[in-house]
Amino acid sequence: MKDWNTVLAPYKQAVDELKIKLRGIREQYHLSSKHTPIEFVTGRVKPVNSILEKAKRKNIDLNSIEEEMQDLAGVRVMCQFVGDIDTVVELVRARTDFEIIEERDYIKHKKESGYRSYHFVLRYPVQMIEGGEKRILVELQIRTLAMNFWATIEHSLQYKYSGKIPEEVEKRLQRAAEAAFRLDEEMSQIRGEVQDAHKIISKKRDSIG
Ligand code: GTP
Ligand code: MG
Repeated sequence: MKDWNTVLAPYKQAVDELKIKLRGIREQYHLSSKHTPIEFVTGRVKPVNSILEKAKRKNIDLNSIEEEMQDLAGVRVMCQFVGDIDTVVELVRARTDFEIIEERDYIKHKKESGYRSYHFVLRYPVQMIEGGEKRILVELQIRTLAMNFWATIEHSLQYKYSGKIPEEVEKRLQRAAEAAFRLDEEMSQIRGEVQDAHKIISKKRDSIG
């Protein structure tokens, strides 16, 4: 029997720290009164029953989960606009408090299910009272609110159907993913037009004043 609390303690620490750091970015944007690319941040440590289920499904030895299961610690950043994701990706790449191990762009290359998101796997250092620094893996997902809406519902359907979603429902989900994609596009265009309008208004003001 593993002492899961002890194994997972550094992962909880990492999730808590990263949530604070990413929310800190949001605060900085608010202070500067620029549009914040981060709408909200969530995080979780994978529950033990999901760890056991995934280890079984993927044939991962419980002694090697810390290297083989990259999402024991998971942090998620939600954005209003697709363009915000690029901004967050750049902010992540510019940081010096962790190392980027892997990047997966499921936005340029959406998954067959319809899933879209930008993923990082990070190697994040936590300071432990025993053994000093421990560098653990963290999965960071960045997505729009529309992508999150879709992924959350698809995930609960996966759960409901124990991973075997009926074909008809699967097709509907793919269509819903298309709709979410179009929603993201529309919103970006609306935003662009609003920004253009602002520019025109301030130019007019400048020439009058
Ligand atoms: P797992 O999918 O986690 O077993 O690992 P993987 O090595 O296949 O990595 P992948 O990048 O495919 O998925 C990592 C995480 O992204 C998952 O744990 C989910 O949180 C999310 N994800 C990936 N694909 C889907 C999907 O089709 N639907 C939903 N809802 N989430 C997905
Ligand atoms: Mg997968």
